[in-house]
Amino acid sequence: MAELTWRGKCRPAHPADVQLQTVDVVGNGGWHNRLIQGDRAHVLAGLLPEFAGAVDLIYLDPPFATGGKFSTTAANGTTPQLAYYDVWADEDAYLQWFYETLLLAHGLLADTGSIYVHLAHHIGHYARAVLDEVFGRDCFQNEIIWSYRTGGASRRRFARKHDNIFFYTKSPDHWTFCPQKERSHMMYRYGFRKSDFHTDAETGQQYTLVYARDVWEIPSVGSATAERVGYPTQKPERLLERVLRASSKEGDLVLDCFIGSGTTAVVAQKLGRRWIAADASPIAIETTRKRLLTAVPDVSFTTQTTHT
Ligand SMILES: C[S@@+](CC[C@H](N)C(=O)[O-])C[C@H]1O[C@@H](n2cnc3c(N)ncnc32)[C@H](O)[C@@H]1O
Repeated sequence: MAELTWRGKCRPAHPADVQLQTVDVVGNGGWHNRLIQGDRAHVLAGLLPEFAGAVDLIYLDPPFATGGKFSTTAANGTTPQLAYYDVWADEDAYLQWFYETLLLAHGLLADTGSIYVHLAHHIGHYARAVLDEVFGRDCFQNEIIWSYRTGGASRRRFARKHDNIFFYTKSPDHWTFCPQKERSHMMYRYGFRKSDFHTDAETGQQYTLVYARDVWEIPSVGSATAERVGYPTQKPERLLERVLRASSKEGDLVLDCFIGSGTTAVVAQKLGRRWIAADASPIAIETTRKRLLTAVPDVSFTTQTTHT
């Protein structure tokens, strides 16, 4: 199999003696969901002693190597503060960082588990080769195209209005998958019966429900969207809902170590999944905490630090 290489490529040793700054969220039945502040390598390595092979679903929405600096007013509502940098010495540095993240994630994933890695055109083609190497080409399941309609378009090329989400499983044979449905308007072509038809309450348009494709038309989090918290690159809850409903069951453990505004944690909490969420940015942790308190009734926090 072909393999991608870059300057400085190496398999690092896991960081040892890791201290995790954990904020517990009280959960059901003795399980405590975890909100952790820290760099992904420390967090993932710190989780390995307890959770190796135990995570059912990993969603990663890392920096995309855009070269951007992302500010937010999510923490205080007014003055923009730096949330995180996506600036790298070069592509080699990014790929080594990404490779290290995947190696750790692979160790945490359960034998029937799945990983979704959310990227974009800047780096997605290289990242897929790295995913093939770490997870195995035969564990590739889908390249999902998340198509959206945000403002701004170039006159020099077609408007770039999609992200790529790579879906891999730990095993090439067995994994959790609950097929999801989407609307189709091609009703007559496939011989649906009248009883299969639904009517949209707002538009009156008729549709049927069919198994979802790998192109997802889900609106991005616009400025007037109720779920918007003002954190840059916030992903829509509907997107995470589809990932979690498809690739986890109630009670399964979901991990996101680039939690940002908290989308994965909020959706996991609403859908009855156990979760571990982390981020290097203190603003992301604070935003997630605030968002959980607002979005999820009866959530309460107790702060603790875990040594591993
Ligand atoms: C694209 S955003 C995630 C957005 C998130 N999915 C949401 O819906 O809000 C990427 C996140 O990765 C975090 N991050 C960047 N480098 C990191 C690192 N080395 N370790 C952990 N988190 C990191 C940033 O602070 C940022 O919150």
